[in-house]
Amino acid sequence: MGFLVLQKGWWILVFVVCLRLFKCDVEGGNVTKIEEGTVLIDGKRGIAMTNEDFVCATLDWWPPDKCDYGTCSWDHASLLNLDLKNVIFLNAVKAFSPLKIRLGGTLQDKLVYQTVDKQQPCLPFAKDASKLFGFSEGCLPLDRWDELNSFFNESGALVIFGLNALYGKWIHPNNTATAPWNSSNAESLIRYTLKKGYNIYGWELGNELSGRGVGVGISVDPYASATIALHDLIQNIYKGVDTKPHIIAPGGFFDSNWFQQYLAKTVGSLNAITHHIYNLGPGSDEHLIDRILNPSILDSGADVFKNLQNILKSSPNSAAAWVGESGGAYNSGRNKVTNAFVFSFWYLDQLGLASTYDTKTYCRQTLIGGNYGLLNTTTFVPNPDYYSALLWHRLMGRSVLSTHFTGSRTIRAYAHCAKQSQGITLLLINIDGNTTVHAKVDFNGTLMLLHKHRHHKHHRSKVIPSPHHIEQVSETVREEYHLTPMDGNIQSQTVLLNGKALTVNSSGLIPALEPVMVNTSEPITVAPYSIVFVRMQNVAIPACT
Ligand SMILES: *[C@@H]1O[C@H](CO)[C@@H](O)[C@H](O)[C@H]1NC(C)=O
Ligand SMILES: *[C@@H]1O[C@H](CO)[C@@H](O)[C@H](O)[C@H]1NC(C)=O
Ligand SMILES: *[C@@H]1O[C@H](CO)[C@@H](O)[C@H](O)[C@H]1NC(C)=O
Ligand SMILES: *[C@@H]1O[C@H](CO)[C@@H](O)[C@H](O)[C@H]1NC(C)=O
Ligand SMILES: *[C@@H]1O[C@H](CO)[C@@H](O)[C@H](O)[C@H]1NC(C)=O
Ligand SMILES: *[C@@H]1O[C@H](CO)[C@@H](O)[C@H](O)[C@H]1NC(C)=O
Ligand SMILES: *[C@@H]1O[C@H](CO)[C@@H](O)[C@H](O)[C@H]1NC(C)=O
Ligand SMILES: *[C@@H]1O[C@H](CO)[C@@H](O)[C@H](O)[C@H]1NC(C)=O
Ligand SMILES: *[C@@H]1O[C@H](CO)[C@@H](O)[C@H](O)[C@H]1NC(C)=O
Repeated sequence: MGFLVLQKGWWILVFVVCLRLFKCDVEGGNVTKIEEGTVLIDGKRGIAMTNEDFVCATLDWWPPDKCDYGTCSWDHASLLNLDLKNVIFLNAVKAFSPLKIRLGGTLQDKLVYQTVDKQQPCLPFAKDASKLFGFSEGCLPLDRWDELNSFFNESGALVIFGLNALYGKWIHPNNTATAPWNSSNAESLIRYTLKKGYNIYGWELGNELSGRGVGVGISVDPYASATIALHDLIQNIYKGVDTKPHIIAPGGFFDSNWFQQYLAKTVGSLNAITHHIYNLGPGSDEHLIDRILNPSILDSGADVFKNLQNILKSSPNSAAAWVGESGGAYNSGRNKVTNAFVFSFWYLDQLGLASTYDTKTYCRQTLIGGNYGLLNTTTFVPNPDYYSALLWHRLMGRSVLSTHFTGSRTIRAYAHCAKQSQGITLLLINIDGNTTVHAKVDFNGTLMLLHKHRHHKHHRSKVIPSPHHIEQVSETVREEYHLTPMDGNIQSQTVLLNGKALTVNSSGLIPALEPVMVNTSEPITVAPYSIVFVRMQNVAIPACT
C-alpha cells in the first residue's frame, strides 16, 4: 500500500531494490529495512540480583558560575540553591516512591557543615581559580539542611550523603592528601541529623579521591582507616537505632589494584563500594552521538562492571557494587545530547550492563543540573531519560536473566523478572536508524508456561500449558512501551510513549505511563531509533518463580 502513494519512480526503484535484498517497509516515503531476530533468554536461574531500588540519581553542589567550555549549565541546581518548592520537582521524585538520591560531587570535599554553636560564618562557594577545584571552601547552613530533609521526607527519597573526606588533610605538591581524616565536622552533622529524625540511607566518604584521584588522591591505607573510623562513628552515634545507615565509599574511578586492596582492608566496615562512570569522554566532543550509536563502544562499558564483580567474588568483603555517579560525558555533559532522547540509548544500556554484572544501585549524574539532568535545569520538566529511568524502575525486577540477541548487531537486549508482577520484562534498544527489527522471544533449557495457541514445534523449550491461567486475557497479550523521539529527531528533548508525547500538565503532574497490549502471537516490532520495554506476564520460568 505504502508505495502506491509515492510520487517519484525513484522511490519505487529504491523499494524494488530494497525488496530484492531484504524485507522492507515503506512509511510515508521512507524505506526501512526489516530484520528478523531472536531474543534468547536462559530461564533456569537469574545471573544477578539488583537492589529493589536500583535507580538512583544525584544532586550536586556546583554553583551557577561553574562553567565548562565556555557555557555555564548548572543554573540554580545546587543543593545550596535549588528551588525545593517546585511542584514538578516534587512530583518527579515522588513518582518513584522511592528514588535513591546521592548528594555529592567534586565540591563535597570542600564543604563544611554549619555547627549548632554557629561559631564560623557559613558562606557559599566562591569562584577562585587558585584553589583546588577552582572554588573556595563552601558551607552548608543547618537551616538549608532542614529544608532539604523536609523535601526528601515529602518526596519519599532515600538519601545518600557524601561527606568531605579531605577535612583535616594536608595536600602535598604531588597531589596526594595525607594526615588522618578529621571526623569532627562530619560527626556534628550526623549527630544533628539523627537528633532531628532525618532518615539517611547511607553516608558516603569522599568523591573521586581514590587512587590517583581527580585533582588529588588518597592512598589505600589512610582511605581504609578513614572508612573504618566512619563506620565506628556511625555505630556509636546510631547506638540503639535499629536500622543503621550504610557506609559507602570511595566514590572514585575504578582502579583494580586500589579497589582490591581497599576492599581487603575494610572488611566489616563497608556496605557498598562506589565507582564513577564517564566512559564517553568529554562533553566537548562533537562526535559524542557517534560514540553512543557505536555498539563496540557500548559493549566496552561492560569491562568495568565485570572486573569489579570478579574482584568482589574473590574478596572477603561483602560490600555491594554500586555506580555512585555516572554522567557518561564529563565536564557537565553536552547540551542536546546528554539531555536528549539519544542519551537513553547509552543510559538504559548502562543500566542493563551494570545489572548483568551484579551492580546493586546505579546513580545517574544528575537528577537536575548540568547538561545531563533527568530534569531540565531551568524548567524542571523531565527530559527523555527521566521517563526511561521511571519505566525501568517500575518494570524491571531485581532478578537479572541471561539474555542474548541473535540478529542485528544494533539491537541491545536485556531481560529481568518483572517487577511487582508475574513474568518477565524485556528491554530492547535499537540504535540503528534505518532498520526495523521483528523480534521473537525464545527460552532455552527450561520450562515455561505459554498460551495454548503457540505452536510447540517453534520452541526448543518444553512447553507446558498452565491450566489455571489459560483462560485469562493476560495469557494472550503482553504490554509494550515503545519510546521514540519527537519528529524522529534523536536530539529531541521530547519523548513519545506509544506515539504520544509525554508531558507534564499545568498542575505539574507526571503523566501516567500506559502500555499498548499486543497479541503474544505477534513478533515484537522495534522501530528504527527506538526503545521498547515489554512486560510478558504470561511467561513463567523457574528463574522468576
Ligand atoms: C521519514 O524520515 C525523515 C528523516 O529521517 C523523518 O523526518 C520523517 O518524519 C520520516 N517520515 C515518516 C512518515 O516516518
Ligand atoms: C517523614 O517523617 C516522618 C516523621 O518524622 C516519618 O514518620 C516518616 O517515616 C518520614 N518519611 C520518610 C520517607 O522519610
Ligand atoms: C607525595 O608526597 C608525600 C609527602 O612527601 C609522600 O608521603 C607520598 O609518598 C608522595 N606520593 C606520591 C604518589 O608520590
Ligand atoms: C578537627 O577539626 C576541629 C574543627 O572542626 C578542630 O577543633 C580539631 O582540633 C581538629 N582535630 C584535629 C586532631 O586536628
Ligand atoms: C530547558 O527547557 C527549555 C524550554 O523547553 C529549553 O529552551 C532549554 O533548552 C532546556 N534547557 C536545557 C539545558 O536543556
Ligand atoms: C540510513 O541509511 C542511509 C544510507 O546508508 C544513510 O545515509 C542514512 O544516514 C541512514 N539514516 C539513519 C537515520 O541512520
Ligand atoms: C542458554 O543459551 C545461552 C546462550 O546461547 C547459553 O549461554 C546458556 O548456557 C544456555 N542455557 C542452557 C541451560 O542451555
Ligand atoms: C493534570 O493531570 C492530573 C492527572 O492526570 C489531573 O488530575 C489534573 O487535573 C490535571 N491538571 C490539569 C490542569 O489539567
Ligand atoms: C491472538 O492471535 C490469535 C491468532 O491470530 C487469535 O486466535 C487470538 O484470538 C488473538 N488473541 C487476542 C487476545 O486478540
